[in-house]
Amino acid sequence: MSLLKIENLRIAFPARGGITEVVRGVNLEVHEGETVGLVGESGSGKSLSCRSIIRLLPSHAQMTANVHFDGRDVMALSRKAIRDHRAHNVGMIFQDPFSCFNPTKRIGEQVAETLRVNAGMDKSAARARAIELLASVEIDRPEQRYRAFPHELSGGMRQRVMIAIAISAGPRLLIADEPTTALDVTTQAQILKLIEQRRRDLNMAVLLVSHDFGVIAQACQRVAVMYGGYVVEAGPVDEICARPQHPYTRALLESIPSLESAGHHVRRAGIPGQPPTAGEIGPGCPFANRCAFARPECAGVDMSLEVVGDAHATACPFVRTVSATSEAGGA
Ligand SMILES: Nc1ncnc2c1ncn2[C@@H]1O[C@H](COP(=O)(O)OP(=O)(O)OP(=O)(O)O)[C@@H](O)[C@H]1O
Ligand SMILES: [Mg+2]
Repeated sequence: MSLLKIENLRIAFPARGGITEVVRGVNLEVHEGETVGLVGESGSGKSLSCRSIIRLLPSHAQMTANVHFDGRDVMALSRKAIRDHRAHNVGMIFQDPFSCFNPTKRIGEQVAETLRVNAGMDKSAARARAIELLASVEIDRPEQRYRAFPHELSGGMRQRVMIAIAISAGPRLLIADEPTTALDVTTQAQILKLIEQRRRDLNMAVLLVSHDFGVIAQACQRVAVMYGGYVVEAGPVDEICARPQHPYTRALLESIPSLESAGHHVRRAGIPGQPPTAGEIGPGCPFANRCAFARPECAGVDMSLEVVGDAHATACPFVRTVSATSEAGGA
């Protein structure tokens, strides 16, 4: 059953001489209890798309969309209702967890404060619940850790505390924006495992953001691939890993050594060129200038998704030709 449905999300910022659109008609759906990935290079619009779900965008951002959460129109919520939505329905792990902590306050107090504000708990109940939450994210000796300051914890532990705060109200959806990016591979695996355990125990859905397809392939059932403010491909992770259609998705998969160990045949290579800055994106496909299969028509391509398989869709209308060319070329 659909928990979150985003349709035609557009986000723009005022820029010299007009506005710059940075999210360009994104559609995204998350069903109850599932883990959906959002993957793409830096600047593709992942974080802003996530923030739109709780309408927590920079004040100068202009956003239009249809966003429905559990059947309710999020765009129509009053200020009070949106505060409740943020407090109770959606937990968010922000991209830079260190900046979310107050460096002068003990971490347990920061967890407890969330409970006092969002759940109206009194001081001692919030303290007791905060310790339970720290234990639930596998922080050892939680009573002692309660008194630690953020700088006294490792990156992995701070991420665990961030997860404790994000799940403190038992949300229906956890948004985890690059939760493992700054962590070593072992800690990364532990954090992904913890999110999965909490997802199961709390019966939450998870929207997991990463620029690393390896992380998404490990943790998600479905994925949306973003490039230049568009979703360029979406579908089941296994299907997309086995039969990527958009040349950007192919390039992304080919740049990930970790997928080899999951049994997928991949060739290691970086993606040549740089991702575009938002102001540079004109009509047509924004990946065309880096695409090995680009053709003149790409400059006028409509970026809406076309279904190419079971629940699998891509914005590249030349996929059949691309597949035929790459198969003939043995790529
Ligand atoms: N406050 C802002 N003012 C102007 N432009 C912004 C602002 N925040 C983001 N942008 C622009 O919007 C685009 C998308 O940003 P977003 O943070 O969603 O990207 P992202 O995919 O999360 O990237 P990263 O992987 O680096 O976190 C970028 O081009 C960025 O420069
Ligand atoms: Mg981001």
